[in-house]
Amino acid sequence: MRQPLVAGNWKMNGSRASIAELLDGLKAGIGNVRTVEVALCAPAIYIPDTQVQLDGSAIKWGGQDVSVHAAGAYTGEIAAAMLTDFGCHFVIIGHSERRAYHSESDALVAEKFAASREAGLVPILCVGETLEEREQGVTEQVVARQLDAVIAHCGIDTVGEGVVAYEPVWAIGTGKTATPEQAQEVHAFIRGRLAANSQTVAEGLRILYGGSMNPKNAAELMAQPDIDGGLIGGASLKAADFLAVCAAANR
Ligand code: 13P
Repeated sequence: MRQPLVAGNWKMNGSRASIAELLDGLKAGIGNVRTVEVALCAPAIYIPDTQVQLDGSAIKWGGQDVSVHAAGAYTGEIAAAMLTDFGCHFVIIGHSERRAYHSESDALVAEKFAASREAGLVPILCVGETLEEREQGVTEQVVARQLDAVIAHCGIDTVGEGVVAYEPVWAIGTGKTATPEQAQEVHAFIRGRLAANSQTVAEGLRILYGGSMNPKNAAELMAQPDIDGGLIGGASLKAADFLAVCAAANR
């Protein structure tokens, strides 16, 4: 059985003070969520603070992006080994905001996936279609292309060491969630695509849903057979909301 994973993506939000308060609230409430793996992906500059506060707790932490390079003259970049140096377990790869605003290509995302694994991080690979693509009926082609690029570059077994997050772009930060049926349909497609390469990987790999997941819709989404947790943006910035989403994943 796949252990549910709920990961928060704080994106570019917070301050030292607000993060300290949020983490206090999360640590206080997380005790009841025993069967779920829980993680928080912090802005890079707040990872050291996050590590200090979460060390020894049940909550893991991670980054939101990583360089494809191991070290050297790459101003502004952060290497995968730097993330592990601060205890990161996860890193988000290929988030739609990076694909859209930082022109990240499928090929670059695949290289980032590989660099993360080489450093021992667990990459959370984001895939998902825009509203325009959904309306054109090409959701499956888009998701397949994004996934296949990583499988081709890294190999299916390496992909199996990560996590996939299906995040329909039109549902991110919009309050417009995919219905459980819409999400399940794409999750099942992703699992089928993985199965065409390896049945073992398809059965073991966790596929998270992301896009306006909140305490109200989390249980229904998580009840779908191919939804193994969530990647949570806005609702991860409030302790009570994030804890409620974690509780909804508790099986
Ligand atoms: P929201 O939960 O704010 O829609 O963000 C989802 C997301 O992009 C997580 O990576």
